Amino acid sequence: MQAAIEEACAALRAGALVAFPTETVYGLGADARSEPAVRSIFAAKGRPADHPLIVHLASIDALDAWAREVPAAALALFERFAPGPLTVILNKRPEVLDVVTGGQPTVGLRVPDHPVALALLEAFGSGIAAPSANRFGAVSPTTAAHVALELGDAVALILDGGPCRVGVESTIVDLSGETPALLRPGGVEVEAIEAVLGRSLASPRGGVRAPGMLPAHYAPRARVVAVDARRLAEAVAAEDGRVVVLGPVDVAGAPRIALSAEPAEAARGLYAALREVDARGFEVAVVALPPPIGLGLAVADRLRRAASR
Ligand code: TXA
Ligand code: MG
Repeated sequence: MQAAIEEACAALRAGALVAFPTETVYGLGADARSEPAVRSIFAAKGRPADHPLIVHLASIDALDAWAREVPAAALALFERFAPGPLTVILNKRPEVLDVVTGGQPTVGLRVPDHPVALALLEAFGSGIAAPSANRFGAVSPTTAAHVALELGDAVALILDGGPCRVGVESTIVDLSGETPALLRPGGVEVEAIEAVLGRSLASPRGGVRAPGMLPAHYAPRARVVAVDARRLAEAVAAEDGRVVVLGPVDVAGAPRIALSAEPAEAARGLYAALREVDARGFEVAVVALPPPIGLGLAVADRLRRAASR
């Protein structure tokens, strides 16, 4: 792996893109200090250019190089959850590129909890801007093979760190204003964040651009029908065409792709299950929404967005 890390660093320094594993999903990385390199992320993903990217750091010691100040609440969260699936939005230092922040005065920062990501960041010695390594709006990749299918041609190399342990993206907390706000539920449970902050998180303020907040996102080609668990059988019966159930148990004799009832396991398997729906040629996937508690909040959020296309 050491040779591959060195090759990846050289590619990043030359302005190329590198896909790398994190504990959440695979990232499509570029040198966050290079405008042309970051621009090529948007071209590769087909992502609108005004949507901001998360800057990945090797440790919280690097926060000061990107954030104008690190408020006590941010430090408390990072001390508890970094490295880990948490992104904090802070007011940026002036030199942070507009292409990274979508022209906003804030920057998203995170220290991923994956040995390969940390080795890469350590060796690179600066921030790596990275969205999830999928085409815009599509399902995020949780294996190197997923990345190769969609973006293999766009990257200098793909570091293979095996399947992602968490499976859904980082939780994003905005601490750039007066009131801490949840921008996206993810791998760190909101309840745990609120416990550290000693207060509850507000829902997003208006005007923030975050594609993960668009109603239609994380979607497979097939239509997704996400319903309350009590309505699952009824929803399956109401569909004709090639229907599959995503879940832990068979429903109404329909074919089924396994998805755990346990929220952390459902998070880990969710994107691979959505990809399998398309790979097996199903037209409709019917799935029960988990209770919005713990990691169930992130799973329900992704299912709703997958369903609203
Ligand atoms: O787990 C993750 O966060 C993964 C891995 C690769 O780290 N990354 C990821 O990136 O999910 P992406 O680009 O797919 O989603 C990042 C989200 C977007 O919704 C983006 O708009 C938001 O973070 N974001 C980034 N910087 C922001 C900022 N300054 N203000 C508001 N939202 C921001
Ligand atoms: Mg994404």
